[in-house]
Formats: sequence, structure tokens, C-alpha cells
Amino acid sequence: MFTVSMLATIAFIAAFVAIPVDKSVYIFPLGHISALNFALGMTLGIALFCIGAGAVHWARTLMSDVEIADERHPIEAEPEVREKVFADFQQGAKESALGRRKLIRNTMFGALTLVPLSGVVLLRDLGPLPEDKLRHTLWSKGKLLVNMNTNEPLRPSDVAVGSLTFAKPEGLEEHDHEFQNEIAKAALMIVRIQPENIKDKRELEWSHEGIVAYSKICTHVGCPISLYEQQTHHVLCPCHQSTFDLSDGARVIFGPAGHALPQLRIGVNDEGYLEALGDFDEPVGPAFWERG
Ligand code: FES
Repeated sequence: MFTVSMLATIAFIAAFVAIPVDKSVYIFPLGHISALNFALGMTLGIALFCIGAGAVHWARTLMSDVEIADERHPIEAEPEVREKVFADFQQGAKESALGRRKLIRNTMFGALTLVPLSGVVLLRDLGPLPEDKLRHTLWSKGKLLVNMNTNEPLRPSDVAVGSLTFAKPEGLEEHDHEFQNEIAKAALMIVRIQPENIKDKRELEWSHEGIVAYSKICTHVGCPISLYEQQTHHVLCPCHQSTFDLSDGARVIFGPAGHALPQLRIGVNDEGYLEALGDFDEPVGPAFWERG
């Protein structure tokens, strides 16, 4: 078998040199396939198979079946060594006076128990608790959707098929003290999908004539999503490649994200501008704390 393997490897090299790349061959039932690929696959397969089969065959037929076991040595120490260790230990305990000086011993244990408390108290300095701030965003009923690039309120006609529009709530300006914190929760991406292509019933109800608004914050670890594939309506998070299907409730179709992107319910006000019809109905971003 090892000889066959050697011959197959030589045949592999010869096939690589001799067979033109564009030559095809008819193999039943595969049909017409590349002669070079076929020859390389066959010869390499035979070479590897024969090495494996030869090794197994050798082990089964020629090697001895006798099992050899090596007994463990006892790991227990000699009695004299153990006696010496006990004696040393007792002498050490006696010299340290731990047994006699009860007050010193007890206060030492007390001090060792209390000292970690200072670390616990310092935890308070990590900042105020977020309370329910992470559950709410600036979106509320009647807030206009403002184009993040032009700073203009959006009309349905501004949202073209095939493009991804980024929006923020009206009244949130870049120079605001809390801008970064608020935009990190409220950032929206808006796309227009033909209503008949929207598979999720609630998504359609929460849209305006096929215009859907979703949180731009990835539910994995919170990167902003930025890539949109018009044909499939998939959006991709560049951080770890989580992919969401915007035509099907933004459910996760690939990657480490655990949840669909939250959708914002939108409509159009009397003046023809896109507006929110409320806040998100779930926390945006990686909402691990409430989902467990
Ligand atoms: S943050 Fe989006 S995939 Fe990780």
C-alpha cells in the first residue's frame, strides 16, 4: 500500500505537468468535468488513502497485542518523613503563639475579614446606576425623523428604494451635552421596501407605505450598522458580521447577534413629515440584562 501511495504521488505530479487546464473528460455519472481536477483528485486521494490504510493494516496484523501496564509507585511519604513534617508544623504553631494569644489571633482574623469591605464600598464610585435610562430613548409620539446628514426633517419622498437613510430625533443637536449618549440609543436607519415584499405582519403595520425604521445599534455588542444590500434587504454589522433581514422583522440570519433589531413605529403627520408614533417597545442594543 505504501508503494501504491508512492506511485500515486508520482502520478499526481505527472498529471499536474502533463494535463492541460482546459481539457475536459466525460465521467459517468458526473458528466463533463475538468480532466486535470479529476486526475489530481484521484491520485492524491489514492496516495493519502493508501498511507492510512497501510498504517491501520500494519497495526492490526503485525503489531503485538500484548498490553503492557506500568504500576504506579505509592505516593505516600515514608513514616519518618511524615512524623518530621508533623513535628515541624507543631513546633511552628507553638513558636507563633497562635494557640495561646487568642486576642491577637481573633483580631487578626477580624482585620482580614473586614479589609475586603473597603473594596466593596469603593464600587459605589463606579458611577450612578443606569436605572431605566437604557430602556428609553428620545423617541416619543410625534417626534419628527430628522436626516442625520442634512439635519432636515424627512418626508416619505426623501426615502428612496435601495438606499439606507440615517435619522435622529428632532431637537437633538450635535453640540448638545448629552448628544453622544442619546444618539447611541436613538440612532435610526430607514429603508423603503415594497410593501408586498415585507414578510413580517407587525413590521408592515409599523411602517409607512413600506418605509421601515429600525434601530441602527447592533444587538450583539452595540456597533452601528452601516451596510445595506438592496436586493435581499439585508443589513450587515461591520464589527462581527451579524446580518439582519429588514424585510422579515430584522431577524438575525447570520452572526453572533442574539436578537432582532428593535423597530420604531412611524407614520406621517399633517404636514407630511415622517414622525415616530412612540418610543421603541424594547431596549435597543445588546439588551442582555433584561433577557438573561
Ligand atoms: S457588534 Fe454587531 S456583530 Fe458584533
